[in-house]
Amino acid sequence: MKTDEITLHELNTEQFIEEKVKEISSLVGSGTAINALSGGVDSSAVTMLGHKALGKRLKTYFIENGLMRKGEPQKIVDLFKNHGVEVILLDAKEEFFNALEGITDPEQKREAITQTFYKSVFGKLVEESGAKYLLQGTILTDVDETVAGIKRQHNVFEQLGIDPQEAFGYKIIEPLVQLRKDGVREVAEALGLPASVYNRMPFPGPALSARVIGEATPEKIELVRQATVITEEILSDVDAFQYMAILHNDRVTGMRDGRRDFGLQIEIRCWNSIDARTATPTNLPYETLMELSGRILEEVPGVVSVTYNIASKPPSTMEAI
Ligand code: XMP
Repeated sequence: MKTDEITLHELNTEQFIEEKVKEISSLVGSGTAINALSGGVDSSAVTMLGHKALGKRLKTYFIENGLMRKGEPQKIVDLFKNHGVEVILLDAKEEFFNALEGITDPEQKREAITQTFYKSVFGKLVEESGAKYLLQGTILTDVDETVAGIKRQHNVFEQLGIDPQEAFGYKIIEPLVQLRKDGVREVAEALGLPASVYNRMPFPGPALSARVIGEATPEKIELVRQATVITEEILSDVDAFQYMAILHNDRVTGMRDGRRDFGLQIEIRCWNSIDARTATPTNLPYETLMELSGRILEEVPGVVSVTYNIASKPPSTMEAI
């Protein structure tokens, strides 16, 4: 597949879809393929492209890694059912939490997710199903940041000199790798996906484990999941590229019921950005910030500190790990 960039200005969505459907069909031939749907705009667009090209010869899975947002797995399965795509929900929570156990380094966490996803979970699925291809929604920004050594995005291999066939036993097809997020949104809309999908805020492959600093235990993931519900509810009307809650590793002294409470810290980030390459913090009203802190302090157990990040990318990145 081609890898040269197609800018939003150059993109002709109908032509792009037609070309990619043809390419997927000719690569897979009469064989079968599988793909993982997370419900984000990239994997959703790939799912629709793949089904256009292969129909029932593409099997789509939602991998329940235990790191997703509240209610997400079933919501995505139901949404795609309404679009005529059957999604198989696969419970792999235990595998992911076992792989994350004891890991605190951000890049090692990303690597643990990558290996669990591609080697353990998909390796097994490919072997069982006899599929030779995995379709996935890598975009150009993922490749750029990984190759530049900024962050190991979970879905980049060949550009790092890793041959998926050798490493995992199957080939990877990346139909969106010429696009950035803005282009993928246009393609997703042209594929008939609803605005709730094509306008969807990005969510990282390592999911909530990217938002727990230090070890991502099931307990910590649950805390950041609760803070995420509140953050997404309160900021849903804000015109921003992406917003998130992050659970810190360090504790700070607080007080509760008149006693010392050495408690947890949640950091909120809300970004303005066009394509995630650079970003600035959104100028949120003070009342909104107070609503966020009030609800998080009240509803997320053990939290005594809530902060709002005011650093830009660069030198910050959007996710905390
Ligand atoms: P950073 O943190 O690198 O994030 O400034 C830029 C954009 O990429 C998303 N992100 C990821 N997406 N796999 C993904 O598919 C990943 O491993 C990953 N890490 C970060 C992030 O949410 C933001 O939109």
